[in-house]
Amino acid sequence: MTTTQELLKTSTKSNFVQYPLEPLSREEVATAIAIIRNERKLGETIRFTTVILNEPPKNLVLNFKDGDRVNREALMILLDNATGAVYEVVVSLTQKTTIQWKHIPEVQPAIMLDEFIECEAVVKASPEFQEAIKKRGITDTDLVIVDPWSAGNYGIAEEMGQRIVRALCWVRSSPSDNGYARPIEGVIPVVDLNKMEVITVEDYGVVPLPPQDGNYSQEFIKNYRTDLKPLEIVQPDGPSFQVEGHKITWQKWQFRIGFTPREGLVLYTIGYEDKGRIRPIIYRASLVEMVVPYGDPKEPHFRKNAFDVGEYGVGTLANSLKLGCDCLGEIHYFDAVMPNSRGDVATINNAVCLHEEDYGILWKHTDWRTDEVEVRRSRRLVISFIATVANYEYGFFWYFYQDGTIQYEVKLTGIVNTTALMPGETSKYGTLIAPQLNAPIHQHFFNVRLDMHLDGENNSVYEVNTQSEPISATNPHGNACYAEATLLGTESEAQRIINPLAGRYWKIVNPSEHNSLGQPVGYKLMPGDNILPFLHQDSSIIKRAGYLTKHLWVTPYDATEKYPAGDYPNQHIGGEGLPEWTKANRPLENTDVVVWYTFGHNHVPRPEDWPVMPTGYIGFMLKPVGFFDGSPANDVPPSPSKHSCH
Ligand code: CO
Repeated sequence: MTTTQELLKTSTKSNFVQYPLEPLSREEVATAIAIIRNERKLGETIRFTTVILNEPPKNLVLNFKDGDRVNREALMILLDNATGAVYEVVVSLTQKTTIQWKHIPEVQPAIMLDEFIECEAVVKASPEFQEAIKKRGITDTDLVIVDPWSAGNYGIAEEMGQRIVRALCWVRSSPSDNGYARPIEGVIPVVDLNKMEVITVEDYGVVPLPPQDGNYSQEFIKNYRTDLKPLEIVQPDGPSFQVEGHKITWQKWQFRIGFTPREGLVLYTIGYEDKGRIRPIIYRASLVEMVVPYGDPKEPHFRKNAFDVGEYGVGTLANSLKLGCDCLGEIHYFDAVMPNSRGDVATINNAVCLHEEDYGILWKHTDWRTDEVEVRRSRRLVISFIATVANYEYGFFWYFYQDGTIQYEVKLTGIVNTTALMPGETSKYGTLIAPQLNAPIHQHFFNVRLDMHLDGENNSVYEVNTQSEPISATNPHGNACYAEATLLGTESEAQRIINPLAGRYWKIVNPSEHNSLGQPVGYKLMPGDNILPFLHQDSSIIKRAGYLTKHLWVTPYDATEKYPAGDYPNQHIGGEGLPEWTKANRPLENTDVVVWYTFGHNHVPRPEDWPVMPTGYIGFMLKPVGFFDGSPANDVPPSPSKHSCH
């Protein structure tokens, strides 16, 4: 264990990082915490909710040359449990001093993983809670599981200024049983996380525990199917990617990664090598918010609206991945470094997985006259992490393809949220998935922030709709149709929703850079499956997550605009983020644009989602449109003959 004094004395070698966006090392995180503790004489009540790289300004990063000295800074969010005060702090690791200490009034930072554990313990120890579960025949608190759910903001005076969660509880029938099979319906312990005490235990009436187990683990499944033969992924010469620090090079792709407690995986400076130079495409890309509103209006379930990014932090909840299970093939793992809330630096080993996958046919043509066949296998580079948010699992996957395509996909699995019903009862707002076990309807909304950088900072965004032309002298047979591009010139014009029947997509171009055909270079954002929320405009959740009402938002780059529902959505009354910023209606043409894409997965639960959901998928694609002079995949070589299809 390194002491504070040792950390403070360590050499200034941290100045000589490979690149300004390299994530903080273990030593840097520990040093930053030691500096602030030493300077401010911080006591036991201070919790470290975030300690990350304070990203240097964009112009510094873009003008960085090998060997340049970089000032390293840590950005921290601290919570004082004694006062409830929140501080945004910047510590210079280069100067070994605090350069910002800012009190942020009336906010609640995200719920910390340590608070999950402490909250469960305090609920189980509460006599009022024990009394409530006794009414339901439960006496063994060891078998009880307590998930702290964010409280939201419903304008209730007693909740204001308190750091609270409303816990949902279940009970296992044995220590390794799937507890989500048996909701302790109607019992809601409300916990003050600053005092770490149960404020009250709400009780909405006894509903019996559902009768059936819902187990899925190896211990319980006895009759596996027996006809599955081995399928091996072999890369005898290793993978085709190179990793240097957090820089990844794969064929013509190049990018860097970071990892934050809030967003998880962050991609930086994505570029593609073309004619001997790396052409920039995206400066920074990450998942910046997620909201899961549930559709059951009854007490206590109407309050379920988890912001999994802003209220929990999908990065802190990242899994440690294991070879051969989560990913297949030649894998490179990256660890994620972050402290726990008490300031002890921990590492999530193997938090990020990098590997290659065969992806079927890249392209093919048979010249039927000569019988000449040309076919190429598609390979994609996969970089991903998986977060467990209490009952649910989310896999967050970026894919890079040989034809210049970038894909983002969320994989939804894990266990659905469950409630108990009386025998014979069904719910209009959910699906019976096992006897007396209900899964409420809900939606998962994601928002990805794309700081676009197509061949330079100044880009424009167009909406492209395909139109059919009325019959006229120039369209006598009624077959005419054409793609029409409309400039989204201001922030209000750039608030858009999908229209699959018009083949709608959004195209980002650099109006100053052209391909050999004279077209401005571009990439299109292609929406996939998507939906809007079914929430009323006046609902609390729409006030707090107004960004859900549009699929596309575009803003001019502002370093302070990072999260579409604001910096501190936990218990926030709302009105922050994209809807607020875009009131300025700033111009967007030929400027440094940030594209925000919202996509929603509508989840009407099925019995087949129980006990563990087979994976659901949702995401979007970014495809080059005139970015290249022709197919960039034409130089992919044929596969060696032993793998060919002859
Ligand atoms: Co779901």
